[in-house]
Amino acid sequence: TTRLIVDVDTGIDDSLALVLLAADPAAEIVAVCCTAGNVPTAQVTRNTASWLDLCGLHDVEVCVGADGPLVAPLMTTEDTHGPLGVGYADLPPSTRSLSARSAATAWVELARAHPGELTGLVTGPLTNLALALRLEPTLPTLLRRLVIMGGSFDHPGNTTPTSEWNVAVDPEAAKEVFDAFSAAPAGREPIVCGLNLTETIEMHPHYLDRLIAAAGGPDVPIVRHLADAIRFYFEFHEAQGEGYLAHMHDPFAAAVALRPEIAEYRTATVDVELAGTLTRGTTVADRRGHWGREPNAAIAVATDPEAFFDDLVARVGAF
Ligand code: BDR
Ligand code: CA
Repeated sequence: TTRLIVDVDTGIDDSLALVLLAADPAAEIVAVCCTAGNVPTAQVTRNTASWLDLCGLHDVEVCVGADGPLVAPLMTTEDTHGPLGVGYADLPPSTRSLSARSAATAWVELARAHPGELTGLVTGPLTNLALALRLEPTLPTLLRRLVIMGGSFDHPGNTTPTSEWNVAVDPEAAKEVFDAFSAAPAGREPIVCGLNLTETIEMHPHYLDRLIAAAGGPDVPIVRHLADAIRFYFEFHEAQGEGYLAHMHDPFAAAVALRPEIAEYRTATVDVELAGTLTRGTTVADRRGHWGREPNAAIAVATDPEAFFDDLVARVGAF
């Protein structure tokens, strides 16, 4: 079993990532931390709680996190994810009570309580994790593994010409996280799933149709909500000139968190540009030792998208 602490800015693709984890018998979500990103934190928290309810995960701790980046003003992207962050889905409100501890505190206390056991998965801006690392600099060695969806390596950005959303929203936080892992012992590098790979994970409508059929048809509430969310994501990508499809950034990172062997990796030293007039929020990977610094990231560079979707359909279908 993979025991997870998940940090999200739910988000259409974060939603599917949560459902994918909930559906997998090999995954146990210990806590979900919410951060501002796609939509403000309060809405992220509502969306996250509703999805967990729909998945029957009533006891999973939901922690409210930072309401904005460390330094930068908050930007959100309702254009990408819909006014409430879940496309056309009209989620039933959750009545669950939220955790009394903040997201950063939950990261630290859970990692200390289960040293070497927890897999961290971040599918939103890295604000909460950066705050947690300020509280507990040895967090990299307390976690079993960390998987981050963020950045873009030898590949364009989706927020500026060179920057990816999760890093662009809070570049200072992303830099603090990569710097913290630079200071950690070798072998603790986080797995980083950037746009270079996640944009190759294209959900086409036929995969969604297969998923709907496998999961019991469009009238099953959770299936209807997922389809309503993803339809908006298809339309967004189409409006961007990508075609009627959707990139599965966060679900792919979730799958990697459970089964890292589905991807191939290249280690590198990653840093984040904070000052560039054109390139703020860009992830820069040094693969040739120009900086003379130890690697601090395992960048996912190859996978089999078809196998990812077969797996998604099988697992969510069986849920
Ligand atoms: C990331 O940005 C967000 O909009 C998505 O949820 C994903 O985490 C992709 O750049
Ligand atoms: Ca996200």
